[in-house]
Amino acid sequence: MEKYLVIGNPIKHSLSPILHNYWFKAHNEDAIYEKKKVEEVELEGLISNVKSGKISGINVTVPFKNSIIKYLDKLSIIAEKTQSVNTIFKTDGKVCGHNTDCEGFVLSLIQTKFKIEGKNAFILGAGGVTPSIIYSLKSKSISEIYVSNRTKQKAENLKKLFPEIKILDWGKRPKKFDIIINTTSVGLKENDKIEIDFSDCRDKLFYDLIYSGKTKFLKERELSNYTKNGMSMFIFQAQKSYETWLGYKPHVDDKLWELLSN
Ligand code: ATR
Repeated sequence: MEKYLVIGNPIKHSLSPILHNYWFKAHNEDAIYEKKKVEEVELEGLISNVKSGKISGINVTVPFKNSIIKYLDKLSIIAEKTQSVNTIFKTDGKVCGHNTDCEGFVLSLIQTKFKIEGKNAFILGAGGVTPSIIYSLKSKSISEIYVSNRTKQKAENLKKLFPEIKILDWGKRPKKFDIIINTTSVGLKENDKIEIDFSDCRDKLFYDLIYSGKTKFLKERELSNYTKNGMSMFIFQAQKSYETWLGYKPHVDDKLWELLSN
């Protein structure tokens, strides 16, 4: 039986096993997908297990998307550009890191039918997934990208990868923006709230990468703006990981949406 893993810390909340095991069953694959909470010191050993064939593929989540890179033999172009890896696979004896978050995000944006080209984006947060969001928005010819993070230095560090971004102090917002994306973990807990006043906003796209239900960030804006949570990005990035490992795209059907929403 082929073994796949998602690794992170924390990992309890991850829905990836439900999703991938659903697909393995639907496509009669003799494979199992598990979640594993790991510490930094275990990363090298896990990559050796991919090299030896004990593990067929790994998804990587917070906080290891960048720190895993030093143990890999090769990176895809997108993983290189974003310095972020969420999918690990073996090819020609080499352990490779790829990033499917970008494609997942772009596909989810296409679903919204919100035009991105020439617009201004405001990104909240500068964590592990933020480089993928910036890269994706650039690929869709966004105009300006503003980034604001509680720890300003982390936002400043993103300029090494993307010199064109503009950094704002935490709590401030740009004068003009059309799409705002929450990449922070604020909203995971029920009473979490981002303390920025958006009450004057109309017809903007409020996108929260958190995929469990609707956060306050979305609920408070949904009457006068477009809103989207992270579920479709989550499904699309997983679909791309699965395709990277198995060589074909698994189906996304209503039953799957139902399974993940409950
Ligand atoms: P990591 O930073 O380890 O990659 P992450 O979950 O990808 O982890 O990122 C967490 C993001 O949520 C960060 O942007 C973090 O801001 P800091 O860099 O200042 O830590 C942000 N975040 C988490 N809790 C927050 C809070 N209470 N208020 C504002 N931002 C918060």
